[in-house]
Amino acid sequence: MMTRFAFKAVLGAAIMALGLSAPAHAAGDAKAPAAMEWSFDGLFGTYDRDALRRGFQVYKEVCASCHSLNQIAFRNLSQAGGPEFSEAEVKAIAREYIVEDGPDDYGDMYERAALPRDKFPSPYPNENAARAANGGAYPPDLSLINKARGGGADYVHALLSGYEDAPEGVEMRPGLYYNPYMAGGKIAMPAPLLEELVEYSDGTPATVEQMSMDVTHFLNWTAEPELEQRKRIGFMVLIYLTIFAGLMFFSMRKIWADLH
Ligand code: HEC
Repeated sequence: MMTRFAFKAVLGAAIMALGLSAPAHAAGDAKAPAAMEWSFDGLFGTYDRDALRRGFQVYKEVCASCHSLNQIAFRNLSQAGGPEFSEAEVKAIAREYIVEDGPDDYGDMYERAALPRDKFPSPYPNENAARAANGGAYPPDLSLINKARGGGADYVHALLSGYEDAPEGVEMRPGLYYNPYMAGGKIAMPAPLLEELVEYSDGTPATVEQMSMDVTHFLNWTAEPELEQRKRIGFMVLIYLTIFAGLMFFSMRKIWADLH
């Protein structure tokens, strides 16, 4: 009896140490997000250029009215490993945004059209204004959201496409919406995606599922713009180590052969 208990405890600890158990969630009552297939997963994972561009379109036309992206400059959109817009496209995108600059020679702040070097601005002048417009809740900056939440991309995708009617018996205060993936089941963000909300420039049908996948793909890039480079370097290091190990093996054999 005792040994069986001890065995189970050891096995449990080993499984936890190896990270094999189902991902733990901060709030026990949140629904576990479904594991999606992402092109950027795995040893050779890369971003899908078209998904990044569509995801950017969703961010720009939908999410940007409430969420900033303050770790990303417009010019990052043209860098290798990202959506890879041309420099002319980036200039045109930046021009659609207004940023605050200054102070000028008279000490006044002024507004101007954004330039490629500017970061995506917040749609609100400050946090209080953002809260006032959202029933007291603060729409977080989305640059690092895929890293900041347990479940990463799977969670963000599930959250965006997982709104439901509140089950019977669950009281919803006005300004809160039922979403089983959110800790506590209640979120102050109304379902941001509706069928056909955007018209994709590449003609892809804009279903809620498609838009959630695309914008989450894009937000993975904003959270990890160096992913492709990192994986390429990791792979090169592996090749290098393999060749190095082979060379070591043969030179050792040679050295020891002489000694015989
Ligand atoms: C009308 C304003 C509004 C729009 C549009 C909007 N959001 Fe939100 N979002 C919010 C607010 C407010 C919160 C904070 C919710 C809370 O804390 O209950 C939030 C929270 C979030 C969160 C964090 C949830 C968590 O785990 O805490 C994510 C992720 C998110 N939004 C993604 C998006 C994406 C992606 C889009 C575009 C498809 C979008 N939002 C559009 C207002 C908005």
